[in-house]
Amino acid sequence: TPREMSTLPRVYVTRQIPPEGLKILRESGKVQFELWDSDDISVPRKELLQRVRGVDGLLCVLTEKIDAELLDAAGPNLKVLSTMSVGFDHLSLDQLKKRGIRVGYTPEVLTDSVAELTVALLLTTSRRLVEATHEAKTGGWGTWRTLWLCGYELANSTVGILGLGRIGVAIAERLAPFKVKKFIYTDVAPRPELASIINAEYVSFDELAKQSDFLAVCCALTPETKEICNKNLFSKMKNTSIFINTSRGGVVNQEDLYQALSTGQIAAAGLDVTVPEPLPTNHPLFTLKNCVILPHIASASYTTRNAMSALAANNLLLGLQGEPMIKELKL
Ligand code: DGY
Repeated sequence: TPREMSTLPRVYVTRQIPPEGLKILRESGKVQFELWDSDDISVPRKELLQRVRGVDGLLCVLTEKIDAELLDAAGPNLKVLSTMSVGFDHLSLDQLKKRGIRVGYTPEVLTDSVAELTVALLLTTSRRLVEATHEAKTGGWGTWRTLWLCGYELANSTVGILGLGRIGVAIAERLAPFKVKKFIYTDVAPRPELASIINAEYVSFDELAKQSDFLAVCCALTPETKEICNKNLFSKMKNTSIFINTSRGGVVNQEDLYQALSTGQIAAAGLDVTVPEPLPTNHPLFTLKNCVILPHIASASYTTRNAMSALAANNLLLGLQGEPMIKELKL
């Protein structure tokens, strides 16, 4: 009845998320929710600030900045925030903590998908697949040539991981069968348990730069990692190395990367993430043959996006019931 409805916690969902999550919310009978009913356009900020007024829960995606302004607009009823992402750099954690708002996120369910895409991007970049298909289609394919479109192979290589977590491990597990010689990693501190799974050696940041034939960035974006991949890193890398980033664009200084790529300081880069997103089509990085850019699709498999949607919905419902979430961020 309408009377019962009005006593249910109110929730705003900032995106038309994949069906599994919406189904869980709808069929739970535990919330009344409003939805920004589009996946093609993100909710305009002004609209968002209005819609969140007085809500008890909020389910968002990574395009929404959850900061003091938004939390003030929502007001004191807001108890639970659930983001459909493993990354949480779009959330002001100190503001959430200060207000006692609990936060759910979606780690693990996307690890396989992100690792698969990272391997695909790495091979696409190192074996120059985008250039190659372009050449084949546009008449660049002449006689078979001995050094044409040569790239770099994984066999006997050293693969470096910047920030070793679940995803870094999953990438290494997939690359190992390509006969990688050695895995190395750096992080704020050694992570022996994770490292032992893939037999990776802990090295300094400088050694990671110097030794890696392939360098995969797998760290979270935090104030400490912001633009950590800059000319200091690129200048220490070999001119035959490949740089891959499937974490967040903000960990890279893109001007420095452009310099490193255009001067041949490093061989190539594959990026699934940039600043900003979308990256403007006239961005200098798009002019480089040795830079492969994807539109933030690492977790984009139907299975994974539905799992993220379901986990985000369940986190939200559990949080609103005052129960432990399946995946809750410790603030
Ligand atoms: C995340 O979850 O943080 C990714 O960037 C999108 O899946």
